[in-house]
Amino acid sequence: MSAEAADDYDVVILGGGSGGYACALRSAQLGLKVALVEKGKLGGTCLHRGCIPTKALLHAAEVADVARDGARFGVKSTFESVDMAAVHSYKDGVVSRLHKGLQGLVSSAQVDYVEGAGALDGPHTVVVGDRRLTGRNVVLATGSHARSLPGLEIGGRIMTSDQALVLDHVPARVVVLGGGVIGVEFASVFKSFGAEVTIVEALPHLVPAEDEAISKQLERSFRKRKIVFKTGARFAGATQADDVVTVSLESGETLSADLLLVAVGRGPVTEGLGYEAAGVTVERGFVPTDERLRTNVAGVYAVGDIVTGLQLAHRGFAQGIFVAEEIAGLSPAVIKESGIPRVTYCDPEVASVGLTEAQARESFEEVETYEYNLGGNGKSQILGTQGFIKLVRRKDGPVVGVHMIGARVGEQIGEAQLIVNWEAHPEDVAGLVHAHPTQNEALGEAHLALSGKPLHAHA
Ligand code: NAI
Repeated sequence: MSAEAADDYDVVILGGGSGGYACALRSAQLGLKVALVEKGKLGGTCLHRGCIPTKALLHAAEVADVARDGARFGVKSTFESVDMAAVHSYKDGVVSRLHKGLQGLVSSAQVDYVEGAGALDGPHTVVVGDRRLTGRNVVLATGSHARSLPGLEIGGRIMTSDQALVLDHVPARVVVLGGGVIGVEFASVFKSFGAEVTIVEALPHLVPAEDEAISKQLERSFRKRKIVFKTGARFAGATQADDVVTVSLESGETLSADLLLVAVGRGPVTEGLGYEAAGVTVERGFVPTDERLRTNVAGVYAVGDIVTGLQLAHRGFAQGIFVAEEIAGLSPAVIKESGIPRVTYCDPEVASVGLTEAQARESFEEVETYEYNLGGNGKSQILGTQGFIKLVRRKDGPVVGVHMIGARVGEQIGEAQLIVNWEAHPEDVAGLVHAHPTQNEALGEAHLALSGKPLHAHA
């Protein structure tokens, strides 16, 4: 076989993050000949710079809080300090075990894994070094990078999550720019590790994409944790000296800190990769697709963070699998963006799926909501957490949104997403028995109440 014939594939995937590798594994399962091109580490942002390492930090933060709060549960414990080197070795151990596992999966899956920086040369060819990989189909999965603001240069005391993840000490004072998902998660970690934290958010609430009731509860909880936040606050500029970074707001207020974490969103990685030269439309950096993830060029698909919408690893997995099945001719069902679950792992956790109350009111004439307070849930009381589960239903119809806040509620998102995606009515869920005493029971109780037969619920 000539070298050229060997480089002909059914699918060539550019980018080995969540979207790209899921597409590669599913393509191989379906008997397609597939090449996966990755310039960095297999697993991408999620495994190396995102979901996994940040959640390891958040777990270490929880352990610090447990040590601090032992007396509340009658256990004499004291919080001494955080050993960042040891925290990193725990975190890096988690990442490296998962990375090895993933490498094993890919190498045993008949995927041609091509290391190196690839770029499109025409719609069906990816060039990597001196190799030209030709694909009947090409999948663009090049992911995202931490954004900054115009004039705000990253370096020194001004950093994004990339640098914050490998910080070798706990700063005394941190300003977090952006009260979205990354902002509140890092604010939570820094506070638990002992820093003074101030969040600056331009919109009126923290986690502004969530249902407003959830944002307000998170604000109450953060206030209680003495995490300072300034909402409706516009950033004007930042300067740094040897020992301080000074952040100024448009209001004229200035904030001094040891570190400024910039968490104002992630931008798509699509520049310098030959996309436009190959005829692929790129709009404000993103690659527009139809609901079947086809770009404007036949045989070229896009998945993950370069596709406008939720930048979440599990959306990337689902899109990667979808495209592999589409290429194999299985006509998979379209992925509904509002059915994708969202979890923010700050303390307390926030988890949601479906429409917020405001979105539901835009879509339907009549909407009913119910908030079940975790105060009535035994396990939540045992954990000492506050929060609630809010249900949004179309009047006399299915539940279209579930919104939760409280310790560990992220673990409840599984049932919540089945309820929303299977368009369950509260009466359907109320008829199912939820185990006692679990936090999951709160989800059952919320549905009991919404279907008119509350049990442990105060009016
Ligand atoms: P984000 O879009 O969630 O939040 C950025 C925040 O910065 C917004 O609330 C915005 O209003 C604010 N902002 C923008 N410009 C500002 C300015 N000039 N002054 C003050 N505030 C300003 O983006 P984030 O938090 O950077 O996260 C990026 C992506 O990563 C998101 O799509 C997120 O979903 C994903 N991610 C998901 C996680 C999870 O699922 N647990 C964890 C971390 C990130």
